Amino acid sequence: MAIQKVGVVGCGLMGSGIAQVSAQAGFPTMVREVSAELVEKGLKGIEKNLARLVEKGTTTDAARNETRSRLKGTTSIDGLKDCDVIIEAIIEQVPMKRELFGALDKLCPPHTIFASNTSSIPIIEIAASTKRPQRFVGLHFFNPVPVMKLVEVVKTIATDPAVYEEIFEFGGRLGKTPVRANDGGGFIVNRLLVPYLLDAIRALEEGVGSVVDIDTSMKLGCGHPMGPLTLLDFVGLETTYYISQIMFDEFKEKRFAAPPLLKRMVLAGWHGRKTGRGFYDYADPANPKPMQF
Ligand code: CAA
Repeated sequence: MAIQKVGVVGCGLMGSGIAQVSAQAGFPTMVREVSAELVEKGLKGIEKNLARLVEKGTTTDAARNETRSRLKGTTSIDGLKDCDVIIEAIIEQVPMKRELFGALDKLCPPHTIFASNTSSIPIIEIAASTKRPQRFVGLHFFNPVPVMKLVEVVKTIATDPAVYEEIFEFGGRLGKTPVRANDGGGFIVNRLLVPYLLDAIRALEEGVGSVVDIDTSMKLGCGHPMGPLTLLDFVGLETTYYISQIMFDEFKEKRFAAPPLLKRMVLAGWHGRKTGRGFYDYADPANPKPMQF
């Protein structure tokens, strides 16, 4: 059965981006959050993004209105029961994800495909909470979702090859470039990105360069759009810390181990841009000031 209706669980930074691209790609999209306030906040954020696209002339007023009309919000998982694919983008906690999918498994028809946007939890660990691990994949998007062109499509040891091909093609229909990844720690991008980000923190700890000089070096020396410490603040330090713990647990290699400075910044509540402080101070968000360590 062709995928027609999409469900997204979680309407935070990633979930709202996924819901936006799904609706822009023409899919009726139902997004679920735990409270009416969070549903509204997520949908308002999408409306703001769409308005910016109209202002820039990237899309028309009519296309924006059509996209918006395809998006609906709900606080109940019952609202997702007629979706052909459900993409989960909730907090990175295994018990919460397993509980959610256990409930969705009972609610949804047998053909519904389940996908997790987790960046590092083994997909099979979540899939095993359902009676349909053969219809379970990873769909890993990148922040900011409307801008970043990639989606990693993750196949577990239990994924049915036909389901995998269907969802791989769906990734393309969302306007993304899908890549094939196995269910190994961090998939492809984080397997390579996380050691690089952690090494940037180690370079700072060891006094190789200042916050600004490390970032400037990678921007201007390698053509990266953001330096690694800016990118860490953008992704979230607690997110990176969490990913590194999962990857270290999987590989037991130093390159995946969180540097002490990262741990201390997370303990201090300095999670990057979203908390106003990380490797930079965002008191004036348009003009971040490097922190002194
Ligand atoms: N939502 C929607 N659109 C956004 C956006 C957002 N949050 N932020 C920026 N944009 C759009 C802008 O509107 C602009 O669009 P136009 O070109 O059409 O005008 C475009 O993106 C470029 O934005 P800016 O000119 O303001 O700034 P920029 O050139 O610095 O680009 C960036 C911003 C796209 C974020 C760029 O800096 C970048 O690519 N950074 C690296 C991001 C990255 O590596 N993401 C992956 C992180 S890893 C991850 O997500 C997965 C994980 O598991 C941890």
